[in-house]
Amino acid sequence: MDFELNEEQRMLQDTVRKFANDVLKPKAPEIDKSAEFPHDTIKKLAELGLMGVVVPEEYGGAGFDFLSLAVAIEEISKVCATTGVIVAVNNSLAAYPILTFGNEEQKKRYLPLLTSAEKIGAFALTEPNAGSDPASMEATARLEGDHYIINGSKRFITNAGEAGIFIVFAVTDKEKRHKGISAFIVERDFPGFSLGKHEDLMGIRATANCELNFDDCKVPKENLLGEEGQGFKIAMHTLDVSRIDIGAQAVGVAQGALDEAIRYAKERTQFGKKICEFEFIQGMLAEAATMTDAARLLVYRAAYLKDKGVERFTREAAMAKYFASEAAIYASRIAVQIHGGYGYTKDYAVERLYRDAKIMEIYEGTSEIQKIVISRQLLR
Ligand code: CAA
Repeated sequence: MDFELNEEQRMLQDTVRKFANDVLKPKAPEIDKSAEFPHDTIKKLAELGLMGVVVPEEYGGAGFDFLSLAVAIEEISKVCATTGVIVAVNNSLAAYPILTFGNEEQKKRYLPLLTSAEKIGAFALTEPNAGSDPASMEATARLEGDHYIINGSKRFITNAGEAGIFIVFAVTDKEKRHKGISAFIVERDFPGFSLGKHEDLMGIRATANCELNFDDCKVPKENLLGEEGQGFKIAMHTLDVSRIDIGAQAVGVAQGALDEAIRYAKERTQFGKKICEFEFIQGMLAEAATMTDAARLLVYRAAYLKDKGVERFTREAAMAKYFASEAAIYASRIAVQIHGGYGYTKDYAVERLYRDAKIMEIYEGTSEIQKIVISRQLLR
């Protein structure tokens, strides 16, 4: 494995870093406060190719690799974790399953809408009674003539309030448990589809996290994604890819928090010297920096395996997501600590980074679920 990014990846990193600092950074506290979905910056990110990073150019994407996607998400999340996850979900949880499991017609119809951000994508797996255990989902889909009729609800769906295209999972054959789950592409204006409660989140506040309701929702049968009964595997494989990006988001938050902590520690004077001269502070910075670098290497390894075409990178993606979320939480916690009382106010970015970090050990499979995934692979 090469530890250097190639020229194309470095150029993308420079472009995204500049955009993130110039455009996303000043807006991050604003959208954290208002919880308003940042449509204008998402449009600009789409113009840079970042809403369809791995999607081939023929479908409107940028045609880059998965490592490039991870690098881009890290740069965005360093300054704005909200934007980081909006981009990650559009790329990995909406465009990717269509690209991988969709037929030609579905790819031609939906991918250009997602890559241009004309429609935002969302992934509807979680339900009020089925979070860590999606195989126990209750939403149903039955075929009637030319349509599937979906009933049920989904909860905690990132992007949902502003999304136009949803990858929805529902039970088509209850007897078969996970083998009876199917995936569908659902458009926002399909009859019987409606939005429910908008969640008021602790962090990543502008992600339009919303409940979805399906009340005899009519979905044309050609919107079945893959085959009937393939839904659970589509969800699991898609999450393997997407967990790399949540790992990248977490690395971004960790690095962003560390940068802020270093800057402040070099500025702040107490007891007659800069606080970075105290060994307690140095120890915290060293630990956060080591965790951040280790997390980045785990993320890069998982992306590298995906780019190499390795079929199962489940363990590596889970390790990357698990460890990077720990790094994000540790780095943002010590960043607040190093800022002292100032860090507990909204005048400093570290307060937001600390709140944003928490979700990373919850969504796309909690840290406990990642440990189950890793240990199952070890003990097979
Ligand atoms: N790739 C392909 N197939 C897979 C797979 C993978 N990574 N993982 C499991 N499978 C297959 C298995 O091989 C098995 O197939 P067979 O029946 O043919 O043998 C089948 O799926 C069932 O596997 P398990 O018995 O392991 O399934 P399980 O019910 O025990 O669940 C689990 C395993 C890992 C705990 C899984 O339920 C899981 O990942 N849970 C967490 C859910 C999650 O991450 N939700 C995130 C929601 S999306 C989100 O959060 C987005 C957001 O907000 C930003």
